[in-house]
Amino acid sequence: MFKASLGDGVELRPLVPELAEELAAHMDRGREFIGRYVAIADVVADAEAAERFLESYAEKAAADTGRIWGIWLDGTLVGGVLFRTMDFRMETAEAGCWLEPAAVGRGLVTRAVSAIIDWAVEVRGVHRVDWYAATVNTASVAVAKRLGMTREGVLREAYLHRGERYDMEAWSVLAPEWRAARGA
Ligand SMILES: CC(C)(COP(=O)(O)OP(=O)(O)OC[C@H]1O[C@@H](n2cnc3c(N)ncnc32)[C@H](O)[C@@H]1OP(=O)(O)O)[C@@H](O)C(=O)NCCC(=O)NCCS
Repeated sequence: MFKASLGDGVELRPLVPELAEELAAHMDRGREFIGRYVAIADVVADAEAAERFLESYAEKAAADTGRIWGIWLDGTLVGGVLFRTMDFRMETAEAGCWLEPAAVGRGLVTRAVSAIIDWAVEVRGVHRVDWYAATVNTASVAVAKRLGMTREGVLREAYLHRGERYDMEAWSVLAPEWRAARGA
């Protein structure tokens, strides 16, 4: 797993089980905002649950089926990016992200997701990166657009969150598109 300095005091580092307490404290700061459309805020309910969650990602990393990184801003964990799935037979991966409110509006996630897509495409040979966002989650849709992804369609009422069904937008970027956009 790589780590990277993304400039302006922003660090991207693997989120390992030893960081469970730090993750839980960050989630406490961002739970209400993060939990509007994504499950991680409910899954990481406290430090114990954070450890279980990070253990599940350690298992995914060992099996090469997923990865998770934290985003630190001036030494504080303020968010994260992940590949919820990675399938090296299909050469596909599904990316996701979150930030606590104090860290939004600075391009942190766009930078962090770009870094992990670079790694997936250039180091790991991934051909297609998927991005799913509830249609109402306009900030997440904006990230997909900012990354130069293509909107492929809407999965009607595919996403059940806190008892409510949401339409889910499917976005993706293919390796040649990613390289062309990065080179341009
Ligand atoms: C989705 C989420 C991470 C987006 O956060 P964000 O801060 O808007 O996204 P970025 O980090 O890419 O920052 C983009 C914003 O920073 C601004 N920005 C400032 N400097 C920038 C830079 N160097 N590069 C890109 N954008 C920059 C952009 O203009 C944009 O602001 P705007 O929306 O007011 O136009 C955030 O809303 C969130 O955590 N939501 C809850 C969890 C969630 O829904 N996750 C997505 C699951 S699919």
